Amino acid sequence: MRILIIGSGSREHALAWHFRQDPTVKELFIAPGNAGTAMLGINIPLTATDLTGLTEWARRERPHLTFVGPEAPLCLGIVDAFQADGLSIFGPNLKAARLEASKIFTKELLLKYKIPTGKSCTFYSSLDAHIYSQKQPYPQVIKADGLAAGKGVVIAQTPEQASTAINDMMEKRVFGKAGSKILIEEHLVGQEISILALTDGKSFKVLPAAQDHKRLLDGDMGPNTGGMGAYAPAPFYTADLADTISKQILQPTLDAFHGEDIDYQGILFVGIMLTADGPKVLEFNVRLGDPETQVVLPLLETPLYQISQAIFQRRLSDCIIKYKPMHAVGIVLAASNYPVIPRSGDVIKGLDQGQKTPNTMVFHGGTKMDNAQFLTAGGRVLTATAWAPQLQAARDLAYQTAAKIQFEGVHYRRDIGSKSLAS
Ligand code: AMP
Ligand code: GLY
Repeated sequence: MRILIIGSGSREHALAWHFRQDPTVKELFIAPGNAGTAMLGINIPLTATDLTGLTEWARRERPHLTFVGPEAPLCLGIVDAFQADGLSIFGPNLKAARLEASKIFTKELLLKYKIPTGKSCTFYSSLDAHIYSQKQPYPQVIKADGLAAGKGVVIAQTPEQASTAINDMMEKRVFGKAGSKILIEEHLVGQEISILALTDGKSFKVLPAAQDHKRLLDGDMGPNTGGMGAYAPAPFYTADLADTISKQILQPTLDAFHGEDIDYQGILFVGIMLTADGPKVLEFNVRLGDPETQVVLPLLETPLYQISQAIFQRRLSDCIIKYKPMHAVGIVLAASNYPVIPRSGDVIKGLDQGQKTPNTMVFHGGTKMDNAQFLTAGGRVLTATAWAPQLQAARDLAYQTAAKIQFEGVHYRRDIGSKSLAS
């Protein structure tokens, strides 16, 4: 089998690592990949948003499956483009990808189908947004409507922060058109959980529930990031909670797809806040999470290829998905100055040691190879991951693995998974 993975982060390295363990997979290509994926397959120098280049490559090379990592190509319609050429590709089509491409579209869908979510108001002019914002309690959550590489949500603690966020998005257009419309949402409080639901449009199956750590610093302080570390399964995702989320969120979302004529095949990532009033949807993503993937895939025993075929044939409900009875923890090692403009080009040392311990894996994100050395080349450089029968043991092993790696300015949170261990 010949597989193409699209993307270049730690999530895509984890995907490549997963597909490499499937004996039916003979050839693996990653576009554009990173220094980690280059050790598992062939990196193709095409960016994830180069739809023309990727389609031409796939037309020529005929991969048996293309697996899309990030949202950008999905929101540009890569699935529709590949399918028009008869190419097999895993992920939602352009219409379905709107769930991530527009937060306003999603909010309206959630309200229409009575799926629990935070109260919010939509704005098309900065003046209206400022007037509304001044009357709301703090913190308040300011969200750019469109894609902003995980940076389009600001939790404003003060009037100044709210005003700056509105101006940045709507006047300065720091996220381009993505900030021409915004949402101002009530601030929800609780534990956050990432539900990665596989769906063939008829039914869904939930991968082990993960918890990400969005803030840059320990104790959930500092700015929001793409995610600084995760663990799975989350111990507080009990059978009761799973049932509530299924009945109040997942099934009604599937009903909403049917009602809106959205044919959703792939992974639906539901970001949920477990509030005192029950679970509420924060966001939908139309792909696997990063760093959630790095802790979920080490637990998954059933090959993703097999799962993708069940989804294509719309028989997901018959597909038995097996997991290791273990816990996984992933620590994101970030570059200096992440999440602003990360420093790059620093030599990474200690990777060999980090890679050798059983039940550990250092997934590469922003890395490249130069003169036989690994160099930093992005904000979230690596995810040091470990798995073990107990969460505490997995956490200890993940931190031991992280500690072996050095590069100038490396920083990471020291409290990944600690909330669950404390409770
Ligand atoms: P989103 O892209 O909408 O998930 O937002 C990114 C992150 O911002 C989420 O993972 C939460 O940590 C945080 N967030 C988003 N919306 C809210 C909210 N209404 N209340 C509190 N935190 C939020
Ligand atoms: N870890 C959050 C995301 O992938 O959006």
